[in-house]
Amino acid sequence: MDYLTSEESLINSEGMINERLREDLLTEAKKSLHKAYATYSGILVGAAVLTKAGNIFAGCNVENSSYPLTMCAERNAVATAVAAEGREVKISVVLVVAEQSDGISFPISPCGACRQVITEFSDDCIIIYQNEDGREISISIDKLLPDAFSLKNKV
Ligand code: THU
Repeated sequence: MDYLTSEESLINSEGMINERLREDLLTEAKKSLHKAYATYSGILVGAAVLTKAGNIFAGCNVENSSYPLTMCAERNAVATAVAAEGREVKISVVLVVAEQSDGISFPISPCGACRQVITEFSDDCIIIYQNEDGREISISIDKLLPDAFSLKNKV
């Protein structure tokens, strides 16, 4: 992976993601979170994705008066990656972070729709989020969405 030097690996022996990469993803996700349009829920979400090509793209949630039209941060980040790198883009890592409008951190894991969309653009992908106890979780998308629906290799 271009993002890391030849001496660095994405995951260390304890199963933790490279710290510099984690910091960069967190910085980009937080920058995006502060641009979130979360007028209705008050939950500002930011997501940053690392592509196999070594680029980081971020996105925030964008809500709407017609509530179901709301778009999640993760899907906006993935869409930005596709628009930048093209349809062959592969997502290696997704980090998601959220805050209430008062700035207090809000644990969030990617919703089902976002898991399905991440699956579409990944062979193997690590998802980083905070669980309900505020603990950081790094887990593969296959574990978050086992037996995902796919038309790939079928059409
Ligand atoms: N949201 C995300 O951005 N990502 C998720 O994975 C779950 C939920 C947003 C949608 C909505 O704007 C707010 O969080 C509350 O549901």
